[in-house]
Amino acid sequence: MPPSTSRCTVATVPAASISSAAMAVQNLLLAAHAEGLGACWMCAPLFCPEVVREALSLPDDWEAQALLTLGYPANSSTLRAASRHALGAVVVRR
Ligand SMILES: Cc1cc2nc3c(=O)[nH]c(=O)nc-3n(C[C@H](O)[C@H](O)[C@H](O)COP(=O)(O)O)c2cc1C
Repeated sequence: MPPSTSRCTVATVPAASISSAAMAVQNLLLAAHAEGLGACWMCAPLFCPEVVREALSLPDDWEAQALLTLGYPANSSTLRAASRHALGAVVVRR
């Protein structure tokens, strides 16, 4: 779309890409959970991108956004119940 008719600025597009990656990861985590897998989202690529790039032999032009550990829990009886904030404490309705 030409710049004159688009509301997306150059700064918006990378942010939208990151949002899209976050949504993809969330969907992957939900799918993993549905399959009985345990998973943990880690942000190592944001803190030490070169270490992650080298460890995983990623192409130089990749900007990894997340690192996911994934596997079957060894003993699900040891998992603690999740404690969550009440919805009203984290959602604002307008
Ligand atoms: C964007 C994002 C990045 C995260 N990065 C890390 C991380 O680098 N290391 C870590 O131990 N947990 C990290 N977490 C937290 C875990 O993925 C997980 O959400 C947390 O352990 C709570 O798990 P639970 O919801 O099953 O209790 C991150 C979570 C998010 C949403």
